[in-house]
Amino acid sequence: MSKTLITSALPYANGSIHLGHLVEYIQTDIYARFLRSCGEDVIYVCADDTHGTPIELNARKQGIEPAQFIARVHEEHMRDFAAFGISFDQFGSTNIDENRQYSEAIFRRLLDGGHIEKRPMELTYCEHDKRFLPDRFVRGVCPKCQAPDQYGDVCEKCGATYSPTDLADPRCAICGQPAVRRESCHYFFKLDHFTEFLREWSGRPGTLDPAILNNLRSGWLATGLADWCISRDGPYFGFKIPGEEDKFFYVWLDAPIGYISNTERLLADRAGSAGDGRRALAYWATDADARVVHFIGKDILNFHALFWPAVLHGAGLKTPDKLAVHGMLTVNGEKMSKSRGTFINARQYLDLLDPSYLRFFYASNLGASPEDLDLSLSEFRLRVNAELVNNLGNLCNRSLAMLKSKLGGRIGGARDAGLLEEAARTIGRVREAFSALEYRTGIRAVIELGEKANKFVQDRKPWETAKTAPEEASRDLSTVADVLCVIGALMAPVVPAIADALFGQLSVTPFTFKALESFASSPKALLPEGHEIGLPSPLIGRIDAEAADKLVVVPSAEAPQAQQQAPAPKAPEAKAPVAFDDFCRLDLRAGKILSAERIPKADKLLKLSVDLGEASPRTIAAGIAQAFDDPSVLVGRTVAVLANLPPRKIRGVESCGMILAAGEPKSGLSLLAINGNIAPGTPIG
Ligand code: 2FM
Ligand code: ZN
Repeated sequence: MSKTLITSALPYANGSIHLGHLVEYIQTDIYARFLRSCGEDVIYVCADDTHGTPIELNARKQGIEPAQFIARVHEEHMRDFAAFGISFDQFGSTNIDENRQYSEAIFRRLLDGGHIEKRPMELTYCEHDKRFLPDRFVRGVCPKCQAPDQYGDVCEKCGATYSPTDLADPRCAICGQPAVRRESCHYFFKLDHFTEFLREWSGRPGTLDPAILNNLRSGWLATGLADWCISRDGPYFGFKIPGEEDKFFYVWLDAPIGYISNTERLLADRAGSAGDGRRALAYWATDADARVVHFIGKDILNFHALFWPAVLHGAGLKTPDKLAVHGMLTVNGEKMSKSRGTFINARQYLDLLDPSYLRFFYASNLGASPEDLDLSLSEFRLRVNAELVNNLGNLCNRSLAMLKSKLGGRIGGARDAGLLEEAARTIGRVREAFSALEYRTGIRAVIELGEKANKFVQDRKPWETAKTAPEEASRDLSTVADVLCVIGALMAPVVPAIADALFGQLSVTPFTFKALESFASSPKALLPEGHEIGLPSPLIGRIDAEAADKLVVVPSAEAPQAQQQAPAPKAPEAKAPVAFDDFCRLDLRAGKILSAERIPKADKLLKLSVDLGEASPRTIAAGIAQAFDDPSVLVGRTVAVLANLPPRKIRGVESCGMILAAGEPKSGLSLLAINGNIAPGTPIG
């Protein structure tokens, strides 16, 4: 069987994951999950991009080593990706030994092949900081329009591009002192050796979107390819160039090599032995039918469509089979901006809303071409509520609830052939759309199937026929249950957590595209007669307008960041130690909040209905009302619950458990969130 390696661009280990990054990770993840569901041999590899000057300087600012800095960021990235359900097979780092080895080997091959030249060049240098200054670390007067205080690579006023040495009155952006020119010897990759190859490679069918190919052909490939400097002087956080005292590989040389080295690490881990530096070459050298697909944003097209294939080709390796290029994210029609509050981090989002909403919305807007994607917050709310919650969510909930309450939850033997055929046709449409990365077309097809199934239920009125003609009700609801199996499989790559919950309620092993192949060609009953479904409950609540609005937090001009932060709380006094056995007596579990409402005349209390994986949800009264203007933002969140407190009556509500939280409701409170795909009732410990 052919195999596919899928990658997303490596995020810099220099900051948090934000909603712009997530366009790519969600897009890639859907493709990886889709191929797995089709039964294909696929691996999804990514890593933190850990080298370069900004990371080195930021670590220094925090008084820690770069290795420690990138380890912290790695943990945060892993946590955010897991919460959004990004199913990497490997999420590693470029700062690993395998990456050093591959970088050195590739550099050596390029050198031996005559594709690298060493020569002196003039650079900008700070005598105070004793370092050469990269573009973004020099400020000065634009050589073209004389605008003051511009970066060393591009003028924000007139758009001119230049080198740092072209700036008038250059200053070091770190210390503000005047910068000087200094000569240094560097390594240059002769990109123009590969012009013909790149013309041929980029035109291979399926490699690039036609619009991208046109841009490339009329841009860089037409105007000529300049040499590319692939070394940097120390101090620098990166891999030292063999044979050099204080020179390092430029981060953009070793970053894409991270695709190879992290594949190596994954395959070695799977084989249970150390990397021998050859396993990953199945994808880049030895296996003719192994495909490599890189998902990237259009902002880093040149690196992936010019430098990277040229480096690979020059080193005698196979070049990528496809670049899936997406556009940039805008929020409410504009570029994300810190000052407008639209630069939204993954964590900010997760504190307010369910990740499935964003996965669904992005997928509903993504096609194969690199158009920008707008997260209009009003459109986001309307679309998710109408299509995901009202159409698909309600179809599941109302039909399974009826099947349970009117027919004892048992599937019958008869089916409605028309609706099953509709479902079978939809599988083909979605499969074709997802294969072509036209997710929005695939999702449209599922929504249409949902509309048809809803209309079917509306027309057949099983709630009435259950009394007058139970065999009809059984046929109709069993047909809908089969359709839900199909919808679950089709939507699983997009909203895996919801699909898992649906399959749980249907009490079946998740259906996949592969498992539905024979149904797609000749539709017949999927669920066996007599099968008993599980307990239905709402799969996902509506997005609340207020919660969606809270995503955008405009920083107040008067209050600088440092002053806005709450003073650090005093550490509480240590409590007496407890025996481990005592701790084990606490029944701590993941609980999914199904509803949250105020309790009349009790300002501080919320009445929550919480799914703890039991036959019916529990009611819990929690003293957290002052922290939530709109309690419905809690619906759908999975939180930590102490489940074996004896029931207690609080303001007339019998409360059976306690929600765990940190902080105070009035001054800032955070519920202990359980992220990722954790089922209600899962023990915590
Ligand atoms: O632009 C970026 O965020 C880079 N860190 C992407 C690197 S992708 C690959 F080349 F490693
Ligand atoms: Zn300086």
